[in-house]
Amino acid sequence: MAQAIIDLGAVAHNVRVLSRAAGAAGVMAVVKADGFGHGAAEVARTALRHGATRLGVTSPDEALALRAAGIDAPMLLWLYPPDESFADVLAAGVEVAASRVEALEEVAAAANALGVVAGVHLEADTGLSRGGAPAGDWPDLVDAARRLEKSGTIEVTGLWSHLASAEDVDSDGLRRQLDAFGAFRRAALNAGLEPRHVHLANSAATLQVPAARHTLVRPGIGVYGVEPVPSRSFGLRPAMTVTARVLRTMRVPAGTGVSYGWDHVIDRETTLAQIPLGFADGIPRSTGGRACLLAHGVRRPVVGRVTMDQVVLDVGDLPVTAGDTVVMLGPGDAGEPTVEEWAGWAGTNPHEILTGIGARVHRTYVPE
Ligand SMILES: Cc1ncc(COP(=O)(O)O)c(C=O)c1O
Repeated sequence: MAQAIIDLGAVAHNVRVLSRAAGAAGVMAVVKADGFGHGAAEVARTALRHGATRLGVTSPDEALALRAAGIDAPMLLWLYPPDESFADVLAAGVEVAASRVEALEEVAAAANALGVVAGVHLEADTGLSRGGAPAGDWPDLVDAARRLEKSGTIEVTGLWSHLASAEDVDSDGLRRQLDAFGAFRRAALNAGLEPRHVHLANSAATLQVPAARHTLVRPGIGVYGVEPVPSRSFGLRPAMTVTARVLRTMRVPAGTGVSYGWDHVIDRETTLAQIPLGFADGIPRSTGGRACLLAHGVRRPVVGRVTMDQVVLDVGDLPVTAGDTVVMLGPGDAGEPTVEEWAGWAGTNPHEILTGIGARVHRTYVPE
């Protein structure tokens, strides 16, 4: 009834744009959260064909699902539960992030039991205060890493951190994070570590902060065609279009109340169309009364409350009938709302809209 059409040509284009911007640095395409809702395996395969050399994920299940899909590219896992055994991910050749000595020791023990050398990327907290080792813990972390490297159970293949913001290239916060990362890196090198991969840049930094690029960049949202810096365009192309088919229409007189609570009352005779997209499918409930869908090439308002499975569209006098296709979001070329507009209506960011498109919205792929 509803589908998300994923334009893999757009993904390919975006990865090429990001790779060009990265220059000599490699590209780790971030395909967490099912490829920001686009389908991790399909996005990963496309990204790897167009310049990405590695993948980034945030749960052991995501990593193993990509391996089960036959994707054997280098992959970094940076979130896992405190009691993660690491056996499955290490056996699958997945590198893991570590920011605590205990985690390093657990990874090393799992690698030892498996008879493999675990690739580890040490994570530094340069100011985000979310994950990563703070400066005070860094000397112990790098010493433990060096000791475990010598024991032959791990190899520190990477060193990384994450930026709080890279949208304003002149911000003090960005400068402080870049400087802090330099200090973490020097301390690691002084302790004898020789990480091949040094990475800090998200999409915005990949595109506009050369000093953040190092040996590898880690773009997410840009891969999916959302411009990461609101005031600039880097020529990215949105990859997702969400459509639904009208279930039925109803001609109603002025004074008709619509949806739960009758928050909306029709002020002149009109046609209402029942659309099978609700908050379980990714239409934020908060957008009732603000959002539009494209019907017959014209933007028409969603009226009344957004419900779990459906919304009501006031199509006015357009000749909309059951079975017609309406567009929730897309690149905007035909006048349909963009993901940025949805984010504005919902008071959120495009990431939340894209990852909120529900599992029952059927994904179909337009090949590159
Ligand atoms: C650790 C990390 N690296 C990279 C990214 C990609 O960032 P962006 O989507 O801004 O490109 C994310 C996404 O949230 C992340 O959490």
